[in-house]
Amino acid sequence: MYEAFFSHDATNFRPSAIREFAKLINDPNIISFAGGVPSPETFPAERIAEIAARVIRERRAVALQYGPTRGLPRLCEFIATLCRTRGVDCTADDVLTTTGSQQALDLIAHTLLDPGDVVLVELPTYIGGSASFFARSAELEGVAQDDDGIVPESLREVATRVRAAGRRIKLLYTIPNFQNPSGRLMTQQRRDQVLQIAAEHDFLVIEDDPYGELVYVDDADTTAMKSRDREGRVLYLGSFSKVLAPGLRCGWIVAPPALLAKLEIAKQAADLCSAMLDQSIVDELCHAGELPPQIAKVRDFYRGKRGVLIAELERHFATRATWTPADGGLFTFVTLHDDVDTGALVADAVARGVAYIPGGPFFVDGSGRNTMRLTFAKEPDERIREGIARLASVFA
Ligand SMILES: Cc1ncc(COP(=O)(O)O)c(C=O)c1O
Repeated sequence: MYEAFFSHDATNFRPSAIREFAKLINDPNIISFAGGVPSPETFPAERIAEIAARVIRERRAVALQYGPTRGLPRLCEFIATLCRTRGVDCTADDVLTTTGSQQALDLIAHTLLDPGDVVLVELPTYIGGSASFFARSAELEGVAQDDDGIVPESLREVATRVRAAGRRIKLLYTIPNFQNPSGRLMTQQRRDQVLQIAAEHDFLVIEDDPYGELVYVDDADTTAMKSRDREGRVLYLGSFSKVLAPGLRCGWIVAPPALLAKLEIAKQAADLCSAMLDQSIVDELCHAGELPPQIAKVRDFYRGKRGVLIAELERHFATRATWTPADGGLFTFVTLHDDVDTGALVADAVARGVAYIPGGPFFVDGSGRNTMRLTFAKEPDERIREGIARLASVFA
């Protein structure tokens, strides 16, 4: 009986096609490369507990109270400083804190999209991003990626085709640093080309950067695309989820003033302010100078695991697949021969005690059936070795 009550947008909601696979990560008999979350071993839990106890006792009028929609002023200052180290020219006035960067995606979708507007997304792309756009009844068009990031010819071709059909492109959604799911890093030259095409075709760009600090090599240039943005087209999104803990729902948007003012009003309607306890904890930790050593620890934690996973792929998959180098982030993305259907083989893999995420759901054009996403975040080294051997038997 509720069908008649649902909004037009609600009829376009898409449940996450990978949630069911993520369930597999909690069975101890299954070696899981299926997770999409950071390892709890990286969370600075003791420090969070100490700071939480202190701010609750000593700063209750802030930590347990409503707060400014923009966010705690000192935290906004810190975020602006952090963004400047990534090349983003901004001050605290340019920052809106959000309840994770996921809320940033939702607020932007809410503020900018009308039903039928086109959002260009990478092939593959982050499912939580596409979910936010589908939830506003947008239409998604995929743009090809290669190992250097978005392919400019594809972006230009898709933009030209969409506009020739009389449709309005509002946004490009991109994750230039160690993308989820592909693990790819976009080159700086490509970032320039993407911005140039955005100007030619007059659309805005969401640059989502939750993985930029998780770097495992020396020569990765993760400077934000926004550092090249002369026209105010880029909305830059960041998050503490991958470097501190995602349970502290703390992300942000850096955007031009006129956009930020609208987003702030959207946020007032959504939740008044992000959790002040979460912000207080993040603020204290950052103010005490603990973020840089924490980031160094997180990098060290993942660097070794990533090395083990890649070495095992080389050992077992050299002739039957290619994969992205995972120089940062949490994932490598594996492409098998054209006739392999990773979705159809999941049950078989689970029966053999190993799990992965099939790549298909990350492609809005229905391609990618022969791909899969693997994370090295969850399992200890020995289980990574055993897991890749099991996976090899699935795709033998
Ligand atoms: C690309 C990307 N964007 C955004 C998010 C959401 O992160 P959070 O809301 O925790 O900041 C994730 C989480 O996995 C992600 O991979």
